[in-house]
Amino acid sequence: MAGFSAFARVASEVRRDVVAARDRDPASSGVSTAEIIATWPGIHALLAYRVAHAMHVSGVPLLPRLISMLARMVSGIEIHPAAIIGRGLFIDHGSGVVVGETAEVGDNVTLYQGVTLGGTGFQTGKRHPTVQDNVTIGSGAKLLGPITIGHGAKVGANSVVITDVPPNSTVVGNPGHPVRVDGRRPEGPDVDWIHLPDPIAEAIQALSGRIATLERMVAELSDEPQPVAEVRPLRTVRGPNPAGG
Ligand SMILES: CC(C)(COP(=O)(O)OP(=O)(O)OC[C@H]1O[C@@H](n2cnc3c(N)ncnc32)[C@H](O)[C@@H]1OP(=O)(O)O)[C@@H](O)C(=O)NCCC(=O)NCCS
Repeated sequence: MAGFSAFARVASEVRRDVVAARDRDPASSGVSTAEIIATWPGIHALLAYRVAHAMHVSGVPLLPRLISMLARMVSGIEIHPAAIIGRGLFIDHGSGVVVGETAEVGDNVTLYQGVTLGGTGFQTGKRHPTVQDNVTIGSGAKLLGPITIGHGAKVGANSVVITDVPPNSTVVGNPGHPVRVDGRRPEGPDVDWIHLPDPIAEAIQALSGRIATLERMVAELSDEPQPVAEVRPLRTVRGPNPAGG
């Protein structure tokens, strides 16, 4: 009975993977489901992983790793049987994708070719990334260490990411850094080179105020009418923040 429920779960997961391939791969237009199952390397790797993972969880020795190795030979995609992968993963093209032993991948994630969810050294325990739901990871991106990629994030092609990625952000470069968060350029005091503070103008402004006060006091003490200097207030120039996206 336990075997049947595991089979049913694997079948339902693979069905979701095929739907993900159809939804997210423009090349699947006009292609039958049977053709996707027969010829999409990402589907082959996921089918093998789903079976190997179910066996691994049930404590079956050796076989899960053998399945994983055979899937890598066929698809160029290596997914450790112990990795935890949610529903609706789409791996486009496939070759060179590596998903390490303690990696965790949420639902509806997309990986392009050459993506590594890897460790950074010889440490033990949790050492691979956690990728939350609805994340897209561009081709050749390397995500290293026990970092968290927040839900809805996009990782640019060929990025090298070694720190956490905020949700709904776009990260590019090496080292990967956010260039968009919630669709806007990240704000910060160091990126506004236009609206810098002007200490000299602020000092003159303070002195002007003091002079005006003193002139008023002198005028009050003196019987003679005193000329009152016109002091034009200085204002710091304000405008839109160019870092605002
Ligand atoms: C990152 C990516 C997902 C775009 O995300 P986005 O949120 O739409 O971001 P934008 O296109 O607005 O780009 C944001 C900024 O990052 C830069 N950028 C985008 N992708 C980049 C990358 N891979 N490397 C370096 N910089 C990149 C853009 O030039 C832009 O710079 P700007 O702020 O100076 O204008 C996309 O560029 C990418 O790399 N996709 C992967 C696609 C892929 O692997 N395809 C393989 C198909 S086989």
